[in-house]
Amino acid sequence: MNLNQLKKKAAWAALDYIYPNTIVGVGTGTTIFYFIEALSTVKNLIYGAVSSSSSSTSLLKKQGIKVFNLENFSSLTIYVDSADEINNCMQMIKGGGGALTREKIIATMAKKFICIIDKTKKVNVLGKFPLPVEIIPMALSYILQEMVKIGGIPKYRKNFVTDNGNIIIDVYNLYIKDPLSMEKKINSLPGVVTVGIFASRSADVILVGTRNGIKTINKKSRLKEIEKH
Ligand code: A5P
Repeated sequence: MNLNQLKKKAAWAALDYIYPNTIVGVGTGTTIFYFIEALSTVKNLIYGAVSSSSSSTSLLKKQGIKVFNLENFSSLTIYVDSADEINNCMQMIKGGGGALTREKIIATMAKKFICIIDKTKKVNVLGKFPLPVEIIPMALSYILQEMVKIGGIPKYRKNFVTDNGNIIIDVYNLYIKDPLSMEKKINSLPGVVTVGIFASRSADVILVGTRNGIKTINKKSRLKEIEKH
């Protein structure tokens, strides 16, 4: 079974978490492509979706799923998205597709964050995947310098403008032992719009597509496991 088939498995499993008559928060990326396909099969049972990117918005519309503007809502029942990396505490690196800011807004507003992944996304320590940071263009040199100070090797993502009109720096060579404090530290730099560490808003449920079916990891069961040790 190839990676796309595993992504598809996880994406379809997320349908079990969709309640009728709700508005579903939808992430961005290749895994979400399959989720949007799956969601279209229940589109008559839900009101519609809010989207984390213009690319997901066009996919949703293509599938005949109504897309609502987020500014009209203050909370959501569910957000479904993938991750570039996810650790044992359900903290993530996101933003490989560049939609991290809108993803973080919707994830934070949602009561439940369902993270759908193939098994390659699970890691012990975040940082092997280059950390995306969305910044205001005029802060480029300053943020590049600050990323070097924290031990990173920053690279400007060429020919890429976010849906918010900003730019992205991908930071290589990080070993993020304390994602919460790293998230706070980078977010506090002037010029940073969003850092792609999702630690203060981690996932609630992980659905991992595996050859043998779906592996479900719940935040509560994970916390109980940690308490035992
Ligand atoms: C988009 O900005 C990202 O946060 C994606 O959710 C993440 O990169 C995972 O994408 P794939 O499903 O394409 O691996």
